[in-house]
Amino acid sequence: MKVYAMNQLLFGSKHQPLRKNTPVIALIVTFITLLLFTVVPLCYSFLGYPFYPSKRFSRPETSDSSSVSVEFDSIHEHESDRKCDIFTGEWIPDPHAPYYTNTTCWAIHEHQNCMKYGRPDTGFMKWRWQPDGCELPVFNPAQFLEIVRGKSMAFVGDSVGRNQMQSLICLLSRVEYPIDDSHTPDEHFKRWRYPSYNFTLATFWTPHLVKSEEADDQGPTRTGLFNLYLDELDEGWTTQIEEFDYVIINAGHWFYRPSVYYENRRVVGCRYCLRENVTDLPMYFGYRKAFRTAFRALNSLENYKGVTFLRTFAPSHFENGEWNRGGDCVRTTPFRSNETSLEGINFEFYMTQMEEFKIAEEEGRKRGLRFRLLDATQAMLLRPDGHPSRYGHWPHENVTLYKDCVHWCLPGPD
Ligand SMILES: *[C@@H]1O[C@H](CO)[C@@H](O)[C@H](O)[C@H]1NC(C)=O
Ligand SMILES: *[C@@H]1O[C@H](CO)[C@@H](O)[C@H](O)[C@H]1NC(C)=O
Ligand SMILES: *[C@@H]1O[C@H](CO)[C@@H](O)[C@H](O)[C@H]1NC(C)=O
Ligand SMILES: *[C@@H]1O[C@H](CO)[C@@H](O)[C@H](O)[C@H]1NC(C)=O
Ligand SMILES: *[C@@H]1O[C@H](CO)[C@@H](O)[C@H](O)[C@H]1NC(C)=O
Repeated sequence: MKVYAMNQLLFGSKHQPLRKNTPVIALIVTFITLLLFTVVPLCYSFLGYPFYPSKRFSRPETSDSSSVSVEFDSIHEHESDRKCDIFTGEWIPDPHAPYYTNTTCWAIHEHQNCMKYGRPDTGFMKWRWQPDGCELPVFNPAQFLEIVRGKSMAFVGDSVGRNQMQSLICLLSRVEYPIDDSHTPDEHFKRWRYPSYNFTLATFWTPHLVKSEEADDQGPTRTGLFNLYLDELDEGWTTQIEEFDYVIINAGHWFYRPSVYYENRRVVGCRYCLRENVTDLPMYFGYRKAFRTAFRALNSLENYKGVTFLRTFAPSHFENGEWNRGGDCVRTTPFRSNETSLEGINFEFYMTQMEEFKIAEEEGRKRGLRFRLLDATQAMLLRPDGHPSRYGHWPHENVTLYKDCVHWCLPGPD
């Protein structure tokens, strides 16, 4: 395709420049769009700046991993003025947002329909992401659908991934609603098809990415005790994924829960299982191995030709206590980047998946498979105000995660 044609496709007209301060919502969706451009070489050069930063990161030298923090600027290096790292920036006010509501979009999951459950403030919907040093182009649902015409995209992971897929459906709903094309009645495995574009969206539920089972629905913390088979594939997704053109993988929050780690079908340790003679290992142990196995699966599937995106860890924001010990998220505005930093568990999750991503990317390159980083961590870290908190259900409802500082309101930041 000629650059001119692509120009028209993406921005309507050859002569229409990128508008300054164009409103952008639904950050993840915007990132996906930009990354899709980067896998279409002409679009890539046309846009004038490679979004995909060259990652020259290394683990800071420190002996105390609980207090380390990371400067995103040092990870996403600006190589020259013309290049821009879309993943580093600030949230700035956007008076035009939100771009859909719970009445114009039916795809909002109940527990993320914050306005329905009485969230009193609306300011959290009115921000857009401003990368340092450049503007994000407008998210245009029609253009997005053109780019993905005839393609398929899968969200693989946990409910935060599903949350983001629903955000995408809501944003695209101005152009078209998909039809339910699910292969199973199981709500954890949905397929949606956009008839006019022959575009398929799917979610695959695999919160641990690898084969797992709930060994005990209580466990030491009453959040279940899981057996994780760290070197075995979760066939619920690995047997279905070959046909997909774009695979967006995420995991994180489920690794907090007590788990027994298996390799080669033998117990190698556990995360807070309180079993005699079983070595307690950090949750990053399981997290690293799970990503390794998942990426290896993709790199070894004979017919997989897709582009794999790692959507990096989206931190939760419980303050003044853990999720089950009075923690809550009551802020109503984003952080500025100088008000918080990635540290402790969030940092470890982030670095662990980055390291596994790098290995997988290298392996993939040998096979001609492309891996892309959808590095949403900093942007999401800055949004303590975007969670449902207690507005994800009615007050009298007895739900486990009573105050939800993990998922994201829709409409909302993600
Ligand atoms: C949408 O949110 C409003 C409050 O803004 C609420 O009254 C209504 O029930 C919600 N509707 C749906 C369909 O969720
Ligand atoms: C729709 O897209 C799929 C690939 O996702 C392709 O196999 C199929 O032929 C397409 N159908 C039409 C009618 O274009
Ligand atoms: C734990 O190990 C000790 C020493 O090897 C052994 O005596 C004990 O029976 C083990 N306990 C369990 C529950 O396996
Ligand atoms: C963060 O930066 C803003 C704007 O540059 C400044 O006004 C504010 O005082 C800074 N806050 C902190 C905690 O350094
Ligand atoms: C809430 O649900 C849990 C588990 O289902 C149950 O043990 C508990 O008694 C319930 N609490 C109330 C107040 O209904």
